[in-house]
Order: sequence, then C-alpha cells, then structure tokens
Amino acid sequence: MALQDFDLVLFGGSGDLSMRKLLPAMYARDVAKDLPPSARVICVGRHEWSQEEFLATVEQNSRPHIKKFEAKSWEAFKKRVVYVPLNATDVSTYKALYDCLRHDPNVTLVYYLATPPHLFAQICDNLAEVGLATPNSRVVLEKPLGRDLESARQINKEVGKVFAESQIYRIDHYLGKETVQNLLALRFGNILFEPLWRREWISDVQITIAEKIGVGNRMGYYDTSGALRDMLQNHLLQLLCIVAMEPPTSIAPDAVRDAKLQVLRSLKRFTPTTLAQNIVRGQYRAGHVDGQAVPSYRDEPDAPEYSRTETFVAMKAEIDTWRWAGVPFYLRTGKRMADRLAEIVVRFKPIPHSIFNQPTSSFQPNSLVIRLQPDEGLKMNLMAKTPGDGMRLKPAELELDFNEQFKTPRMDAYERLLLDVLRGQLTLFMRGDELEAAWEWVEPILQSWDADDSQPIPYTSGTWGPAASSALIGRDGLQWREEALPED
Ligand code: BG6
Repeated sequence: MALQDFDLVLFGGSGDLSMRKLLPAMYARDVAKDLPPSARVICVGRHEWSQEEFLATVEQNSRPHIKKFEAKSWEAFKKRVVYVPLNATDVSTYKALYDCLRHDPNVTLVYYLATPPHLFAQICDNLAEVGLATPNSRVVLEKPLGRDLESARQINKEVGKVFAESQIYRIDHYLGKETVQNLLALRFGNILFEPLWRREWISDVQITIAEKIGVGNRMGYYDTSGALRDMLQNHLLQLLCIVAMEPPTSIAPDAVRDAKLQVLRSLKRFTPTTLAQNIVRGQYRAGHVDGQAVPSYRDEPDAPEYSRTETFVAMKAEIDTWRWAGVPFYLRTGKRMADRLAEIVVRFKPIPHSIFNQPTSSFQPNSLVIRLQPDEGLKMNLMAKTPGDGMRLKPAELELDFNEQFKTPRMDAYERLLLDVLRGQLTLFMRGDELEAAWEWVEPILQSWDADDSQPIPYTSGTWGPAASSALIGRDGLQWREEALPED
C-alpha cells in the first residue's frame, strides 16, 4: 500500500535514537522507494542550529549507522530532512514548527516523541495549544513509558487528554522484529502447532534476550532503570504475550491487543515470598567479552560507586489460565553476557513410553527454538533414527533459516514500525491498558527491591549470569538451552 504524503516530526530530533535508528530507518525506506516525493522528516531540538549545522550533525552521527550507504541517495534523502529549533517546554517556540508544517488534510502528520517521558504531557499540551494536535495527527511514544505503574498511568492520562487512543502509537521495537511477527504466522498460519500449544503438551517455555554490550554511555538513564524496567517489563513481556495469547479473531489492532492484555492480566502475581524464590537479579563485574577485557558495571563511566541497579534478571513466571496453568515461563535478560542472542524455546513433554530398546530418558523431548537474533530462524528438535543397522534414535534438527528461505531484503524493526505508523496500523503497538497491565505486574517486584537493601548478585562479564539463574531453572529439573547443548 503506497504511503500518503507525510510530515514526520521527530522530537528529540538530534538525540541518540533519532541519529542511530530513526533517520537511518527513514533513509532505508527512501532508498526502497517507499516515501512519497514530498514527504519530510522534521527534526526538532533545543539547539539553535541552522539547517546546514544540523545536516552536518546528521552526517557525523547518523550516517555511520546506515548499513547500505549510497552517496547519491543520501544526498537526496537529506533534502527531506528539515531542522526546526524548538524548546519542548516553551509553547512560544512552537510557532516555528507550526509555520514549517503543511496544513493539508492529505498530508499525514506524525509526532514522534523520542524524548524523556516527563516531557510527553507538556509536548502534547503545547501541540494542542498551538492547534497542531489535529484529529488526523498521530503521536508515537518511545520508551521508557514510565518507570512504574503510577507514572505510566500519568502518561496515559495526560497524552489521552490531547490524543484519542487510536492516535497513540506506543512503540516496543521488539514487535517490529521479523521473527516476532513470524511467531504469529507460525502459530496461526499453520494447523500443526496450535493443538499442541498448551499445558497438556508443553512442559516449559524459555525466553532469553542476552546482550554482549554493557551499559555504554547510557549510565544516566540505565542506572535509574535496570534490566527489569529496561527489558523485561516491555520487550520480554511482549514476547511472552505473543507466545501465550489465545488466538485473536483477526490481526486487527484491538483483537491482538485484547488477546495480549488477557495474558498480562493472567500472570500470577508475586508475593514477597514467591518473588524471592523465583527471581534472580545480577550485576556484571569485570570480565572478558569476545576476548576483550571489560570493566565492572560499577567502574563504568558515571556509575554510582555502590549502585544496586540490576543488569541481569531471570525469573520463573506463570500464567493462570486453563491453557497454561502449571507451565513455567522462564524469562531472562542481561548485559555483558556470553553471547548476543534473543530466542524463545518452547519445550514439549517427553514421550510417554519407549517402544525401542532405549529408555524413555534417552529421548530428548521435542523443542521448538524461535530465534529472533542474531540469525533469524526456527529450529525444531526431533528424534530420528541414526543411519545404518539396528534401530538407534538420536536428536536431530529441522531448521528454517529465514535469510536462506526468503531472499527479500530485511527491514530493521524501526523501519517496519515507522511504516506502520505512517499507514495508520496499530496492531504492533501497545494499547494504554496493556502498558498499565504490564507495569501492574512488575510493580510488586520493584517495590520489594526498593524496600530491602539486598544487592544484585555479581556475575562475571562474558558469562550467562549468576549461578543462581541456573539454580532457578535447575530446581525444576531443567536447564537453560545453552547449558543443555552438547559441547562442540
Ligand atoms: C532497548 C534497551 O530497548 O533495547 C537497550 O533500552 C537494549 O538497553 C536494546 O540494548 C536491545 O535491543 P536490540 O534490538 O539490540 O536487541
């Protein structure tokens, strides 16, 4: 579907996200010829830069993040980029933005708030005051969407005073990843899995997002956030929702979002006791990642000396529904881990009886591995006969590598999601009640960590986190997938 002409306004237009992700995403879509000829990206920011000065900044800070750079198309793209100096909190400075925009009902108007969340309400108010919050405009809210239930409610309330729910796009870039959408395709585009997708056949689910990177230059934000807020409350819970939701009636936004909301509301609440038993938090110490020595979290630039912020969380969650009662969902995320990977592992129950001359314990239960990154794909682990005489079964793999299978070029998550915003498609964005339900569930964890003075468990950089994480899953007689893999 061709895009209607648009003005995309990036608040925080000179910030890190715009430079690293949003401008490169728009450039890539321009190269792919998705953008109408007069569509523009209007970056607003506090600096009193001229257009030339801003473009020099883009050249320096954004261009290095472009994967497939072509000088000619880059020059053409830069003509779409406009800079407007504006102080988000000072309504008198919005006139320049007003004058810059095209007030034409045939031009889609999108405000992307890539700013700290405490500015959301004021920006929306100011847009309304100068007459820019038109009924056809859209607003995109970038994370962090609050830091607890109260602040998330506040954001919903304040933004909701200016924009209707159908105009609000709460972004979680994990939903823009190809494999996450493929999970929907796998579950609801095939007859094979859905009948087995329940407690009778599934023993447990693991969802891991592991990163090799440390906190980098984001200490100011990260130390007030931590892995639970930064990754679990949003990305991991969104993945869990897609795995666990009931079949939505269609792919329409509210059908999918209702189904996800039901999962969030069915998550078993933690009490102080269950929380201590089922959640492990860690913080990285010095170590080696890819052979390179890396510092301890507390020695990173600007780190508070005795920071208690977690850079790793592992937990056992449960969903209280007929479909999932008793099936553990193990969630895990961490920085400075042994490898960069994001994957979902669905493990099926063991066979009930062996007809072969092998004990049932020698049959590896089937598992489905859905890999989001680095290489997108699916793996189904099966038992198969080893070739030759006799009847000996061994684990084997069925593999679907998306890059091999589909030669079509990939889109980065932000490219996909920006296109969806510009097309007015809300399915891959969180609704306000979903956001609140996710915060509601993590709230007791946050409160408990705030209330006690315990420390996160230290773990060496370049490992899979504290030993307590293996013990958490080991208690149920299970292992994280990489622990169960045979040694190379
Ligand atoms: C962001 C977090 O939302 O996701 C970062 O704030 C994290 O801390 C990033 O590094 C991970 O995203 P991806 O797409 O690189 O896995």
